[in-house]
Amino acid sequence: MALKALMAVSGLIMVLYLLAHMYGNLMAFGGRETFNNYATHLHVLGEPILPYDGFFWILRVVLTAALIAHIYAAAHLTARDWRARTGVTNRYQSKKGRRGVQRSYSSFTLRWGGVVIFLYVIFHILNLTTGTIHPGGPSPSPYDRLLNTMSVWWVVAVYTIALLAVGFHLRHGVWSALTTLGAHTSAKARTRLNILAYVISIAVTVGFLLVPWSIVAGLIH
Ligand code: HEM
Repeated sequence: MALKALMAVSGLIMVLYLLAHMYGNLMAFGGRETFNNYATHLHVLGEPILPYDGFFWILRVVLTAALIAHIYAAAHLTARDWRARTGVTNRYQSKKGRRGVQRSYSSFTLRWGGVVIFLYVIFHILNLTTGTIHPGGPSPSPYDRLLNTMSVWWVVAVYTIALLAVGFHLRHGVWSALTTLGAHTSAKARTRLNILAYVISIAVTVGFLLVPWSIVAGLIH
């Protein structure tokens, strides 16, 4: 139970970040000046109480801690599940498929979707935060880095696949997290939870994808 609660709380912290990040990215529709202003503002947020980049570093520490907790809980829950299926222990016996074969759609999107998203985040940070991988060309301007990178077809494909994985992951993950935390109390609550999970996952996926696809369509230029 403690592992599931850890999974739920760390997941919800990352969902809040994703909603804020997605909203921030929509500034790209305001054009170069608006987006670059926004990007600069993030680094000076909280000044003078916080030092330059202070807010960013707090965010990075919180997100890294949430990610480590999430992966730790996922690995332990998966190992427990596999032990139950292969009959190594009698403690958590399950009649589901043996030998770790993915039988359920939701465990598939959560586990393998999680792996895809993790690999994507590494690529994404090297691409847009550090600029180590800069297909389309480097630039000192965050707006131009975004435009350059999204002018390369395979980068748009990577972002699209990753965002679809995020959508499926959140569709089940949000539901699961809120159920673990006790929101699943009645048939009515279950319906509301399902609707909320759909709304959040669609908002995140569509909201994020609007930017690269608007660049492809020439609406952001
Ligand atoms: C179309 C989709 C996305 C775009 C255009 C985008 C854009 C950006 C940009 C421009 C930055 C750099 C901020 C800066 O350093 O000034 C950034 C950072 C970041 N993004 Fe995204 N992002 C997208 C989707 C995502 C998704 C789906 C995730 C997570 C699953 C994510 C997680 C992060 C993280 C963790 C950072 C690093 C913050 C840092 O430490 O600097 N992003 N993103």
